[in-house]
Amino acid sequence: MTAKILDGAALARELRTEIAKAASELTAKGHQPGLAVVLVGEDPASQVYVRNKVSACEQAGFYSEMHRLPANTSEAALLELVTTLNHRDNIHGILVQLPLPAHINSHKVIETIAAEKDVDGFHISNAGLLMTGQPLFRPCTPYGVMKLLEKTGISLRGAEAVVIGASNIVGKPQAMLLLQSGATVTVCNSKTKDLASHCKRADILVVAVGRPNMITGDMIKPGAVVIDVGINRLPDGKLCGDVDFNSASEVAGWITPVPGGVGPMTITMLLQNTLEAVQRTL
Ligand code: GUN
Repeated sequence: MTAKILDGAALARELRTEIAKAASELTAKGHQPGLAVVLVGEDPASQVYVRNKVSACEQAGFYSEMHRLPANTSEAALLELVTTLNHRDNIHGILVQLPLPAHINSHKVIETIAAEKDVDGFHISNAGLLMTGQPLFRPCTPYGVMKLLEKTGISLRGAEAVVIGASNIVGKPQAMLLLQSGATVTVCNSKTKDLASHCKRADILVVAVGRPNMITGDMIKPGAVVIDVGINRLPDGKLCGDVDFNSASEVAGWITPVPGGVGPMTITMLLQNTLEAVQRTL
């Protein structure tokens, strides 16, 4: 093992202490940060994620409420709930957990969230602001990855960054943030030919695919920073990332573990975005 561990759990603790302090100051002035989390259906992974989000809110002194709706909830009913939350003064952030059941148009739901309460940063106006270099809310996972990269002290200017995965939630906004930090960015997708040759050029490799252990040590440039966004559950119940930690950590300079890497940072940046949402209303 040669790689240094990029400890997301420790960084998350540090940042959450600062966030909790800011929240308590706001609460003392009558502006307690408030987040509404909406979950439609019974997806087990989503249930865990939203529970963790709500409990992080409580620990940071935020007000939070969880809306659990059955899988057969109509699109109209969900839009009505979002509209109600848009008008609530004690709710500064609204998060609708994705994926939604197939009969609901998730674009329509996201576009219904007031842009100034869209703490996920998924609304088209927030995506546009990010794209044009004037972000309001940065999507939480890519925002957390940028904080982790900052922690290494490695300059991103002119670095070769390769993002594997091109989702609206991680890959695309991640590429934008890296580009705006001066990196040369390649975004790979499931059709990319010779993925290994792209990976091997990367000084910064961000993997967000959802396939257990698909990136192995022989695909990594010696000394690279490897950020593993994947959280996969193996048949034995254990969690693993998209990167094969054992072989990758023999080659990389820095690597995030799973669990304890990107995951805690995603939730931390959700708290940060909610705090920023309150501050903008004052
Ligand atoms: N599903 C997976 N990641 C996320 C996220 O960051 N936000 C929401 N709303 N849903 C998700």
